[in-house]
Parts: sequence; structure tokens; C-alpha cells
Amino acid sequence: MTNRIRVLLIDDDREDFLIVSEMLAEAENVRFKLDWAPTYEAGLEAIRRQAHDVYLVDYFMGSRSGLDLLKTAATMDCKAPVIFLTAHGNYAVDLKAMEAGASDYLVKGQFSAPILERSIRYSIMSKRIEEELNESKEELRLLAARLLRAQEDERKRIAREIHDSIGSSLSAVKFYIDHLAGRLNEDPAVREAFVTLSRAMAHAMDESRRIMSDLRPSMLDDLGIISTIRWFCREFQTIYSGIGVQGDIRIEESQIPESLKIIIFRIIQEAMNNGAKHSQAGKITLCLSLENEAIVLCISDDGIGFDREAASKQCTSGFGLRSMRERAELSGATFDIRSSREEGTAVTACWVLGPLPGPRLP
Ligand SMILES: Nc1ncnc2c1ncn2[C@@H]1O[C@H](COP(=O)(O)OP(=O)(O)OP(=O)(O)O)[C@@H](O)[C@H]1O
Ligand SMILES: [Mg+2]
Repeated sequence: MTNRIRVLLIDDDREDFLIVSEMLAEAENVRFKLDWAPTYEAGLEAIRRQAHDVYLVDYFMGSRSGLDLLKTAATMDCKAPVIFLTAHGNYAVDLKAMEAGASDYLVKGQFSAPILERSIRYSIMSKRIEEELNESKEELRLLAARLLRAQEDERKRIAREIHDSIGSSLSAVKFYIDHLAGRLNEDPAVREAFVTLSRAMAHAMDESRRIMSDLRPSMLDDLGIISTIRWFCREFQTIYSGIGVQGDIRIEESQIPESLKIIIFRIIQEAMNNGAKHSQAGKITLCLSLENEAIVLCISDDGIGFDREAASKQCTSGFGLRSMRERAELSGATFDIRSSREEGTAVTACWVLGPLPGPRLP
């Protein structure tokens, strides 16, 4: 611990200041510098300057409560821990203090100098650990966002590679086969073989196109998200002809930030594929709309639903649900999955637009 711990006592009782002062002076291994703010306002002013390592806050200060002070301090990005001091302690007050984010809670007249000294030390240390944890979490978030972006870039690159190399070779070979077939002699067996070859080539071309658009639908870049969603629904409907797809898009292309488009598309892709693979639904509904400055995406089915807890415990199960949540939350959305046997499954993501909190761009 550093040489001197800077303590601020926010308390309207001078007597308390003298008692705390004496207690801190008694400490043998740690040196303290105590300042005193005798009013709520003076306390806030001192917190704003962020010049202390810990705040000792009187729980009841006239008409104001230490809890109010703690809440306001939180909005000022107060990093130092707060320890409440109170003359009238009870369990309910203790709980409230803890929930509000206080580091400790001491009842006046019931603590000694060593207890105060230890409480201060522990509070500072646990606040420091909390800060470090928060920083690690933020780093992890940024890392995950970078990873997702790298994954999208890589998919785009592979799709382009397939298009430029395999795609064009396949077209050339098919063209040549068809050309040769036209100049063949009458041997029906050879003709038949060429027709089969041509069909196989056409199939390979379709497959490579499908893989390319799974990797990155070029339509997203060329025509935008709305056209891509409409195209995806048509394709989906063709493949899963037993499921009715209902699309309801109530937003303009220009109202969707560029960075969100691929995220929205990936969520739709996964949620609809899940509906087809697992739900036994007769109908899947997709809604994308702008509601009160928020983009709301909801994909729901009328299928058999599933137990979300059981699905998340099965570590063998897929990545789809997790990656939808990650993509949504990393881009600043709230994400929710509701599922029941009676009502099927609904996946919802909601991005609040505007300066606060705004979509965080991965
Ligand atoms: N719409 C749905 N209806 C019924 N069950 C679902 C639905 N969506 C997901 N599930 C259940 O949740 C599980 C996990 O879904 P998730 O998308 O994470 O994995 P997956 O689809 O099995 O594999 P992956 O997405 O990696 O290809 C599924 O195996 C399925 O049991
Ligand atoms: Mg899945």
C-alpha cells in the first residue's frame, strides 16, 4: 500500500470528525491524511476533484442520505470506494448500502481504530481488483468484437477467392464441355457422358455460388440489407417449402447503420435456420422495424420451443445461440430469447440509435 492514504470524511457532525481523526492517528502500519467535508454539497464537490483514496460517508446527513450521495458520485465516475458510517445501523440499511455499491458499512460507536483501518485497506484493495476486472472485461469485449470483424473480413475474402478462382474456372470448363458436345460425332454413349458432365459442372457452379453467398452475400454490399433479407426469405422458402415465411419490414435502408447490416443478417440467418432445423414450426415470422429511435429485429416461430437452460448446459450443442447473442450485444443491442412449448421461440434484438448509448461498432 502507498505511503499515505487520503481519506475524506463526509459527515455533518464535528464530533465524528474528531473521533475518526484520533482513530486514524492510532494506526501503526499505515499513515492516513484525513480531510473533512461537513456538508453533502462540500462532499460532492470534493468527490468531483477525485483527490482521495477512500470516502467515509455518514449515512444520514440531515435531509440527505449517503445513498443519494453514492448514486450521484457514481455518475461522476468516482473510482474510490465508499464506506458508510451510521449511528442507526440495521440489517436493511446494511443491505441497501451494499446494493448501492458501498464497500463497507460501519456502525458508529461499534468499531475500533484497527477495524476502521482494516476496512479502509480492504475497501481500497477490493475496489482496485474490481477496476482491474472491469478493464479486463472491456478488453475482452474489444477483442471479441475484433474477432467477429476479422471473421467477417475473412469470409468476405474467401468468398471473393472462390468467385475469382474456382468460380471462373468452373464456368470456363462448363463452357468448353458444352462447346465440345455440340461438335461431337453421333456416338450416343459419348453424347450422354457429355450431358452428364455438363450437368455436374452446373451443379458444382450452383454449389460454389451457394457457399459464396453463405460466406458473404454479395447482395448485402451491392443492393443493401432490405433486398438481401427479401432474397434470403425467398431462398429459405424454396428450400423449406413446408414452412410459411412471413416478412414484415418497416424500416428504410438508410435508417440502418452500415456496420449493423451484416450483424442483422447473421442473426436472421441463424434464427431462421434454427427454426427450420429444430422447431418443427409451420410458420416463421421475421420483423425488422424502427420503433422510437430503436431498430427492433424479431424472428419468431410457432414450433415446439426448447429449454434454454438445458440447451446452454449442453456444451456439445452448437454455437448458434451464443454467437447471435455475442454479435447483438457487442454491437450495443439488448438480446433476448423466449421459448416455450405453447408459443414457440422468439429471438429479439434491439439497437437504440442516437448518441446515447448508440450502437457500439465492432
Ligand atoms: N427455434 C428453435 N426451436 C426449437 N429448438 C431450438 C430453436 N433454436 C434453438 N433450439 C435448440 O437450441 C439448441 C442450440 O441451438 P444452437 O443454434 O446454439 O445450436 P445448433 O443449431 O444445434 O448448432 P449450430 O447453430 O452450431 O449449427 C439446438 O440444438 C436446439 O435444441
Ligand atoms: Mg443453430
